[in-house]
Amino acid sequence: MTAKRDVGSAPVRGRRVLVRVDFNVPQDANGQVADDRRIVEAMPTLNHLRASGARTILLTHLGRPGGHPDPRFSLRPVVHRFSAILGQPVPLAEDIIGYKALEMSARLENGQFLMLENLRFHPGEEANDPGFASQLAHLGEVFVEDAFGTVHRAHASTVGVPRRLPSFAGFLVEREVRELSRLIDEPERPYHVVLGGAKVADKLPLLSSFLGRADAVLIGGALAFPFLAAQGNRLGATKVEAGLEKAVDEFLSAAEGAGTEILLPEDLVVERSGSAGVETAGIDHVPADGIAQDIGPATRARFAGRLAESHTVFWNGPLGRAEDTRFAEGTREVLARLGSVTGYHVAAGGDSARIAQDLGVTGSFQFISTGGGAALEFVQGLELPGLAVLPDA
Ligand code: ADP
Ligand code: 3PG
Ligand code: MG
Repeated sequence: MTAKRDVGSAPVRGRRVLVRVDFNVPQDANGQVADDRRIVEAMPTLNHLRASGARTILLTHLGRPGGHPDPRFSLRPVVHRFSAILGQPVPLAEDIIGYKALEMSARLENGQFLMLENLRFHPGEEANDPGFASQLAHLGEVFVEDAFGTVHRAHASTVGVPRRLPSFAGFLVEREVRELSRLIDEPERPYHVVLGGAKVADKLPLLSSFLGRADAVLIGGALAFPFLAAQGNRLGATKVEAGLEKAVDEFLSAAEGAGTEILLPEDLVVERSGSAGVETAGIDHVPADGIAQDIGPATRARFAGRLAESHTVFWNGPLGRAEDTRFAEGTREVLARLGSVTGYHVAAGGDSARIAQDLGVTGSFQFISTGGGAALEFVQGLELPGLAVLPDA
């Protein structure tokens, strides 16, 4: 993908700069920020703006409050954490596009910051309402897009505002585009893709996008079950997403036509009802009361062995129910062994980034995207509205 005009060349001194960030961070039971990676990754842009004497107004959403104010989705704890990282106070404008927000933005001095309350408290954000977008744009003079995780949404803050102001890509967006483009623009071969996770129907387009582009796709997690079931394996009491037989057949014959090899599990870690222990079973020998929860040791060895031959790897989705340590070993072992393979390794996905961190395998990757859905759409080669709207360099 062509590089975008970036914030390094934006005229910002003394100007009010609207920056769309993706501070949609996980929160703990008390609402506190549980993982501040998305904030930390935006700091290069925000530090640059501070050092350049900009008057920065931050725009973000948090969760899915549905177009009306809801205290559970307030940015209060997020702005608190951001202030601590920045090392200076950052006020929160609760009325978003109201009189107070306008007044607070007008009073900003060079190097100061203001954050608007959750954009999704207003129905105009997700609807990309022209009136809402105009009022947002009115708060600033320049727009910077640094919310890579949200560029797949055509919302007021991601397309409405940049259509109304001189716009630039932030350093995080620039880096994400540069890194993820390496998977699309002639990746060094062999190129192997490892996919796991749950919702199969959602991930079929992603899977299909690799046919003809990757040399092999290694499938684990619950994603593998409809494939194993379609091949006639009996998976005991495992829940298998229904109605996918035809899609799975079509996918497998398309893979054959495209010359992309599909690797499926040969053994599984199985949980039995009424027992805390786990056992390993071949894919055609899952006991009637057994629920498959992870790939088995033979599969791990085969997957890791195949990845050892790769030059480029893309990973999304755990190979088992990795939140439970009993079922994390498949994902942990395969990704840990990837760490000793020389090549270019990228991870993406909302849950995947967190799981890689929990399993201590982030060091196996040269790049871990801050995007969930956005990164998965990008690597499929889809056009993302929040990027398309930005001028090229
Ligand atoms: P991402 O958000 O990174 O795209 P997904 O949401 O697709 O990843 O996958 C994460 C979820 O998949 C996790 O909650 C995990 O527990 C679930 N999962 C993976 N394998 C299994 C399995 N064998 N059985 C049940 N759930 C699974
Ligand atoms: C994400 O976490 O993937 C982004 O912040 C986008 O959130 P959304 O899926 O609610 O639009
Ligand atoms: Mg997920």
